[in-house]
Amino acid sequence: MEVYSSLQIQIESFISKRAIALLSFLFLSTFVFNSTEVFAEADGAKLFKQTCATCHSTSGKRGTGPGLEGFWDRIPGGDDEGKNAWLTNWVKNAGAIIKSKEDDYINKRYAEFNNYPMTPQPHLKDDEILAIAAYIKSKPHLVDGPDVGSKGTNPFIPVEEVTDNTTLYWLIILGIVFFIIINVMAGVKNNLQNLLNDKKGRPAVPDRGNLESVAYWIGTHKLHTALIILFLLVIGSVKGWYVLKDVGVYQGYAPEQPIKFSHKIHAGDNGIECVYCHHSAEKGKTAGIPSVNVCMNCHRGIDEGTWTKKEEISKIYAAAGWNPEKGVYDKPQKPIKWVRIHNLPDFVYFNHSQHVVAGKQECQTCHGQVQEMHLLEQHSLLTMGWCLDCHQETNVAMEGNAYYDKMHAELVEKHKDEGKTSFTVKDIGGFECAKCHY
Ligand code: HEC
Ligand code: HEC
Ligand code: HEC
Ligand code: HEC
Ligand code: HEC
Ligand code: HEC
Repeated sequence: MEVYSSLQIQIESFISKRAIALLSFLFLSTFVFNSTEVFAEADGAKLFKQTCATCHSTSGKRGTGPGLEGFWDRIPGGDDEGKNAWLTNWVKNAGAIIKSKEDDYINKRYAEFNNYPMTPQPHLKDDEILAIAAYIKSKPHLVDGPDVGSKGTNPFIPVEEVTDNTTLYWLIILGIVFFIIINVMAGVKNNLQNLLNDKKGRPAVPDRGNLESVAYWIGTHKLHTALIILFLLVIGSVKGWYVLKDVGVYQGYAPEQPIKFSHKIHAGDNGIECVYCHHSAEKGKTAGIPSVNVCMNCHRGIDEGTWTKKEEISKIYAAAGWNPEKGVYDKPQKPIKWVRIHNLPDFVYFNHSQHVVAGKQECQTCHGQVQEMHLLEQHSLLTMGWCLDCHQETNVAMEGNAYYDKMHAELVEKHKDEGKTSFTVKDIGGFECAKCHY
């Protein structure tokens, strides 16, 4: 009897130590798989805009640096792995590489770009640089026109989005493995128990079905169950927090529009002024979306586009009630239902003419290089922090502006001791809650 019970204790403690070790291993590994996604997913689009976009476009268009369309095919390094290494090294150490004159590719590029050295970005981590590269590669490459397009890609078809489901697969696989292990362990334990029970003349452990044994396991392993639930809750809330954090922030939002209208073709290639279509931007609070009549100013004559031929322009005619065969308006108008992209909450007051006319801000400062976008996207964050950042940094153009003469004199007087003569939007009250909130 003595021998049996100590054997039993040993077996049980052996199994439960194993079980705990296994469970902890599974916990840790799910956490690692999950956390790499939750915490390290570098946002290539955002990083590109923050650190590279001042000099590079994702199209073929030359800026201070080369347009990065197709860059992956021309940079040195050989295979993908070699290119990864070359790129991370270049981005972090551009200055040193240029100086060393050892990289023939860079020597050539450097000369082409008038010996303008690329600013190194040593603070970026490798995975962040690779995320930027992935973002550039993922951009639908919008060629300048059919003549440039030996590639001939239609600029209106965005590259398909690739969703990464690996984490989910891992979790499912781990779940199944977990389930099998619990089952096997329960079986092994039952067998050993039966062996002992048999020797001790006790009745055999009842054979349980799968669900039943899970229920039984939960009943007898309250601590483990509690740990699993706690773990799932933590994962759930971390994920949830990351999702919530981005609620209401739509940077990069670029919905499909009812007509494939391209800002690049209109404001870029054909040089049409922004305010030709968004004329209220200089006069009032909103910039407004042009009515179909504005389109008809030109499209009564232009009935075919290079890319979409008559297909998209015929939608303008349908909306305007225009009959192109007869050249008359003989049908009812039905407004085009453009999908709104920028949208501040109702409790925020924003005025275009104040910024464009009085503040002398370019459309592009807030909306990005719209004249290069086929499909328009939200360029800025549009958060309160974004408004305040600019108000803190930007000097108000006061001098020579009659509207500000009196205010300017007062401010100079007030800041006499510091000898300050230029003032930021913050200085004139651009941080006051009531200026932006009703
Ligand atoms: C201050 C301007 C500037 C910034 C910021 C900048 N670059 Fe550059 N980049 C250049 C210039 C200029 C060149 C051409 C080589 C030279 O003159 O140094 C270049 C070259 C490159 C090349 C080689 C491209 C080719 O077509 O040959 C890559 C790739 C590149 N940069 C990536 C990046 C990435 C990624 C970032 C952001 C992390 C970045 N650059 C930020 C100016 C810049
Ligand atoms: C030929 C007329 C036309 C011209 C010129 C034009 N736009 Fe637009 N714009 C539109 C139309 C139509 C829409 C709605 C469809 C869309 O979003 O692409 C629009 C949408 C926008 C939006 C997004 C509105 C929203 O829903 O939040 C912004 C921002 C914008 N334009 C800025 C500009 C800027 C900046 C320029 C000058 C570089 C410009 N536009 C030139 C016609 C024009
Ligand atoms: C100031 C003149 C002008 C105005 C206003 C204008 N367009 Fe255009 N649009 C053009 C020109 C020029 C082209 C280029 C035609 C070509 O590809 O040869 C064009 C082309 C197009 C195309 C075909 C693109 C392609 O290549 O397939 C569409 C669609 C279009 N415009 C929609 C609109 C809409 C919608 C509006 C009103 C919001 C509008 N346009 C207002 C001048 C204008
Ligand atoms: C200081 C930043 C800033 C500047 C400069 C600016 N915008 Fe805007 N724009 C915004 C914000 C913020 C919104 C969102 C407004 C809202 O939702 O009430 C917006 C919205 C728009 C819209 C959507 C329709 C509307 O009026 O809400 C269009 C179109 C637009 N802007 C065009 C322009 C054009 C064209 C220019 C240049 C003449 C310009 N913007 C200059 C910040 C700016
Ligand atoms: C790119 C810079 C920039 C951004 C971004 C910007 N502003 Fe401004 N803002 C200005 C400038 C410059 C002025 C001064 C205009 C003038 O001279 O009256 C100004 C003035 C104002 C004023 C008037 C302040 C006063 O004391 O008269 C309000 C209100 C305002 N902005 C709201 C906003 C809101 C809301 C946002 C964000 C949605 C925003 N701004 C984003 C540059 C900016
Ligand atoms: C320059 C304009 C500006 C000023 C000044 C400003 N806000 Fe805001 N505020 C905004 C904008 C824009 C949003 C909307 C942000 C969003 O939708 O993400 C906002 C959002 C908010 C929100 C909602 C929570 C959130 O972050 O979305 C609160 C609360 C708020 N502001 C309080 C204040 C208080 C208090 C002050 C004065 C200390 C103030 N704001 C000054 C522009 C401003």
